[in-house]
Amino acid sequence: MDRLYIFDTTLRDGEQVPGCQLNTVEKIQVAKQLELLGVDVIEAGFPISSPGDFNSVIEISKAVTWPTICALTRAVEKDIDVAAEALKFAKHKRIHTGIGTSDSHIKYKFNSNREEIIERAVRAVKYAKRYVEDVEFYAEDAGRTDNEYLARVVEAVIKAGATVVNIPDTTGYCLPAEYGAKIKYLCDHVAGIEHAIISTHCHNDLGMATANTMSGVLNGARQAEVTINGIGERAGNTSLEEVAMILKCHKGVGIETNINTTKIYPTSRMVSSLMNMPVQPNKAIVGKNAFAHSSGIHQDGVLKNVQTYEIMNPQDVGIDDNAIVLTARSGRAALKSRLHALGVDLAQEKLDAVYQEFLKLADKKKDINDDDILVLAGADRSQNHRIKLDYLQVTSGVGVKSVASLGLLIAGEKFEACASGNGPVDAAIKALKKIVNRQMTLKEFTIQAISKGSDDMGKVHMQVEYDGHMYYGFGANTDIIAASVEAYIDCINKFKI
Ligand code: KIV
Ligand code: ZN
Repeated sequence: MDRLYIFDTTLRDGEQVPGCQLNTVEKIQVAKQLELLGVDVIEAGFPISSPGDFNSVIEISKAVTWPTICALTRAVEKDIDVAAEALKFAKHKRIHTGIGTSDSHIKYKFNSNREEIIERAVRAVKYAKRYVEDVEFYAEDAGRTDNEYLARVVEAVIKAGATVVNIPDTTGYCLPAEYGAKIKYLCDHVAGIEHAIISTHCHNDLGMATANTMSGVLNGARQAEVTINGIGERAGNTSLEEVAMILKCHKGVGIETNINTTKIYPTSRMVSSLMNMPVQPNKAIVGKNAFAHSSGIHQDGVLKNVQTYEIMNPQDVGIDDNAIVLTARSGRAALKSRLHALGVDLAQEKLDAVYQEFLKLADKKKDINDDDILVLAGADRSQNHRIKLDYLQVTSGVGVKSVASLGLLIAGEKFEACASGNGPVDAAIKALKKIVNRQMTLKEFTIQAISKGSDDMGKVHMQVEYDGHMYYGFGANTDIIAASVEAYIDCINKFKI
């Protein structure tokens, strides 16, 4: 097997996206996760661009051990000085320097000419070599650079000491065959090409980033520059998860990466939530629907044999199982199978009861997720509780005091109480405490919607302290006041008395 090096630029190209900026602590968190994931190189920032980027490169260099830490520069000496300073704590370090090589960059960006650009490129690589052994050169807009000229640039920078040469399709313009041919042209025409690794760096403006990267790899590139979830400038970069899983699924290609694919999904979730950048539901590999089968025919096939409709195992990317989307049209078998995958095996009678509840909820909600059905199965388990909520009525609003009246069944006997409070939850819990008269203190209280939509179920987690012990309770209901009371009752049912 040949090896493809994975260069992750989530923290540089990905982080350039407006609204995706992370602070240093968050960047360290992502960098450590990338290390666990097994990336070879982490591009940690562009140190000259801001004190924040400079500091992040320093801190990531300290926090991470195995991957090479890379810092971006322009082909400018001051940039290179600052990058070298930012990399001083890195155990393995690389400077990534470069310049635009397409005619439009040469003319409009630099007001220069081809020969001068080659000189500047060579000078920058030689200058970076004073600081580090590992120097990567990027030929910005290589996708639109004439191949013959590009080959001259690449040959010159390799001669100057570049260890990696990056061929970015900066504007996401190339067709896969064209990009692959460009890489092949360089492999065939550059003297000394064996002394450097060729890298892909493909943007997704026309939705071809991964196809172009793969075409580059199949034609000789041995490093791919990627981001988690494909985030990046404009339409983004090639996504790491796609390249890693393509090579894992197509073993016949004979190229492997060091990626521990079971860390892909958790890494995707982390990046998405820290950057507040949702992943589109149909995103390959990590989208919510990537392994979901909603049509009856697919569900039936997958239940008989997963290979009928799945080319990869969700567990290989860190998802616990194939999430069949449960809808009002799903049968008991689909519900039973999903519950089983979640570790819940119900006897037929209980399954029937949960199925009836499931159908009622499916009428209200478009699709039912794992959390929903775990809640339904859990609600069924709470039937054996000694204390149960019989009824709850709350009046509340703006400019009025909230009042709750509540009924409990304790070992089958009915108790009722009324209370007013500072908001509806407070009123309901005060009424509850009038019936269950114990010295208990609410320590933590969180309300979350399970998914989205005003019809959604609210989940409530509570911690109540009683007699020196902490008890955890959970409630779920489309009425969040009722969910809160259920969570409190769940705690009380666990009291050691
Ligand atoms: O897209 C690009 O050309 C880049 C370079 C700076 C590597 O991000
Ligand atoms: Zn880029």
